[in-house]
Parts: sequence; structure tokens; C-alpha cells
Amino acid sequence: MSEKKIIKGFSRLTPQQKIEVVKDYFSESEKALKTLSSFRHPDSNIQELLSGISENTVSNFHLPYNVAPNFLINGRMYMVPMVIEESSVVAAASSAARFWAGNGGFSARVVNQLKNGQLHFLFSGNTSALKTAMQEIEKFLRKHASPHTAKMEERGGGIRSIELKDCRNIIENYYQLNVSFDTTQAMGANFINTCLEDFSEALGLYFASNKEFKEVKYEPLMAILSNYNDQCLVEASVSCPAEMLESESKGLPPDEFARRMIMAVTIAENDIYRATTHNKGIMNGVDAVILATGNDYRAVEAGAHAWAARSGRYRSLSSASMENGHFVFSLRLPMAIGTVGGLTRLHPLASLSLEMLGEPDSGELMMIAACAGLANNYAAVRSLVTTGIQSGHMKMHLSNILMQLKAGPVESSMIIKYFSKRKVSYREVSAYLDKIRQNK
Ligand code: MEV
Repeated sequence: MSEKKIIKGFSRLTPQQKIEVVKDYFSESEKALKTLSSFRHPDSNIQELLSGISENTVSNFHLPYNVAPNFLINGRMYMVPMVIEESSVVAAASSAARFWAGNGGFSARVVNQLKNGQLHFLFSGNTSALKTAMQEIEKFLRKHASPHTAKMEERGGGIRSIELKDCRNIIENYYQLNVSFDTTQAMGANFINTCLEDFSEALGLYFASNKEFKEVKYEPLMAILSNYNDQCLVEASVSCPAEMLESESKGLPPDEFARRMIMAVTIAENDIYRATTHNKGIMNGVDAVILATGNDYRAVEAGAHAWAARSGRYRSLSSASMENGHFVFSLRLPMAIGTVGGLTRLHPLASLSLEMLGEPDSGELMMIAACAGLANNYAAVRSLVTTGIQSGHMKMHLSNILMQLKAGPVESSMIIKYFSKRKVSYREVSAYLDKIRQNK
């Protein structure tokens, strides 16, 4: 490997030239290049599309595209696409979905569906004059942004409200415009940011053209959407008479199982160490659907965790209770996603996922992703309060090891039998496989 220098203009190099530079970063460069090249798409049109989505693409990083059947949501059956690498997540979602499909299915609803954005600025003039002028300012900003909003308004969306927030307690002369948007079927990031940047300029024009504010110093600082979408919430829940939990309770009396489930959720509502892992289990399902449909999982993650901390303490996103003999398990979280725009139609698999889901609108997709999150959370807590998660995980782990060791079907079934009551590790499985092969 040669000494590394600062690389100028890397993004302007051709794919081949980029690979030549990257080559230097491997000890066995030919082998590395072969691996990179083997993961490029053989169809050059598709590879161009994938490379076009991002920047400095030298290969593709594949993740498994999985499906979870039997998601009965609001009376409609879905086959849910899930892109995720963690082996037990899809199995857990599928098993929970199958159980609940036989017990009334999931109920879900969109609570509200507005997105937030902010203009952060400094204003050195009279606060009460600014407050008084807000109605007129709002009119001016809306008119100025109308070339950007016209199409969205035709689709039923647009800017819903503009509010001034006095933030001088944080920084001298600092204010915000908090803007809420209806972006209909789109996640709407570009639309929101375009409008906010327009506002940033327009607010300066308003001050400059208005004699009351002519002397004022206006300094726009940032114009950007917020990923804290507390006005874009979705809810999902399941419920059944406690006695129906018998098949779920691994030998525990069903009401005992329900009691343990409720205690587990209460702990996640009160203890940050448990809450973080509990919510990670929810996001296993949510993110897998978000990724499969070409949406922005980092945005959804950031928003969900901020929402979990809205009380000042980070808590569980889900809750569990007994109500009139019924076990109720539910989830509420913010989710700013779309079914048009961004990658949703650009990535052929994202588009296929939406087709598999019956071309949902953005609200319906929010509900499906929330139900996947609830299914995974239910399945994880169910395992935790009964058998523990390791037995299920280890089964999956064993099948990965068998694949890595290229065990044949007969060998695999002997190994699965042998390890059904033993601790699974790569070393032990490999040693046992050697033994089988030697004894042949
Ligand atoms: C693993 O990906 C997720 C769990 O840790 C979630 C939980 O503990 O609730 C099993």
C-alpha cells in the first residue's frame, strides 16, 4: 500500500478511475477489486441507476429483501416487504403477524399528518412590532413562495401554518418561524426545504421594503425541515381476550404471561437502559419496511427516539395493559414517509414493495410500518418473558453457520439434532461437522 495523499476532485473521476484510487486501500487489491466488481449489477442500466442515486459509488452493498406474510391490518391482509440483515427479525414479525391475524388482526390509524420545518434567524428590531406584523408577513411569505407551492396545493397539500417563536432566551436576537406543511403522498423534504429557503429570502425582502423595519438587522441563519414530526403520528394496536394468549405463553398460564408482558413494558416506560433496547426492537420492524419502500430510515429513527423522550425522560414507544379481560398492546410514533418522490419510485425494488402492499397512500404505509414495529416488539418481549431470545436466535445463527460451512442436507439435519440441546458456536459446529465427515 502506498502513502495516502489528499485526493482532489475524486467525485469527478470516472467509475474506473475511482476504483483505481480505491485499489490502494487494500492489501490484496486484485482480490478486493474482484469482490467489488462481483457486487456491481450486470445490467449496466440498473447499475447506472444505482450509482446515480448516490455519489462515489464503486459497488453495491446488498441487503436481503424479505417478506413477512399474514399482516392483517384494519381488516386487510398484507404481505409486508422487509429489508433487514438481522436473521430473527422477519421470523419474529411473521410469527406475531400470524398469531394476531387469528385474533382480530392489527388496528391502526393515522393521528395526524403534518410535517414541520424551521427558519432560524436573528432580528435586531422591536419584538412586539414583529409579532404584530406576523399576519402581514405570513401573507407576504406565502405569496413569495407560491411558484413553489402551486403544484402541491393542486394535490391538496401546501403550507398549513407559520408561527413566530421568540428564542432570545437561547441567543440574543434569535427567533424562529415554525412552519407546518401538508405534503400529501410525498415525504416532502425537498418541498419543505425549498419553501423554507424561499422564506429566508422573502423575510429579508419584507423587512427591507417596509419602513417600520427598514433599520432592522435581519440575519437568516438556517432554513431546514425538522425530523421531529410530532404532528405526523401513527398508532397501531392489537388486543385479545387474555385466554387466547395460551398458544403464546410457552406453558405459562395466559394471565401470568399477560402480567409478565405488562411488567416488561412498564420497565421500558421507566428505565432508559431497557427502553432503548425495547425501542430498538420496535425499529427493527419499522426500519425494515421503511428501507424496503425506499424511505429515509434515519429520519424516522431520529424522530421516533426524540418522540420517545418528549416527556423529558426517554421511554418505551409502546404500551401494554389489561382492559376488561382483554390484553392490549399498542404503539404510537411519528413517521414522516411517502409513497411518491425520493427513492420510492426510482428504486425498482422500492416500487415493487409498494405494489406488493397494494399501492398504499402515505398514511396507509405509515400504518403498515407501525404494525411491523408493533409485531416485532410484541415478538421480542414475548420471547424475553418466556423462553429468552437466545434459543430462537441460536437456531438462526446455526443455519447461518451451516451455510458458511457448506453442510449438505443430511449433515445439516444431523447437526441441528445434535445442537438442539447444546450451545451453538462456530467452532463447535465446525468440529462436529468434521467428525461427521471423518466417520463417513
Ligand atoms: C434485537 O434486535 C431486539 C431485542 O433486543 C429487542 C428487545 O430486547 O426488546 C430482542
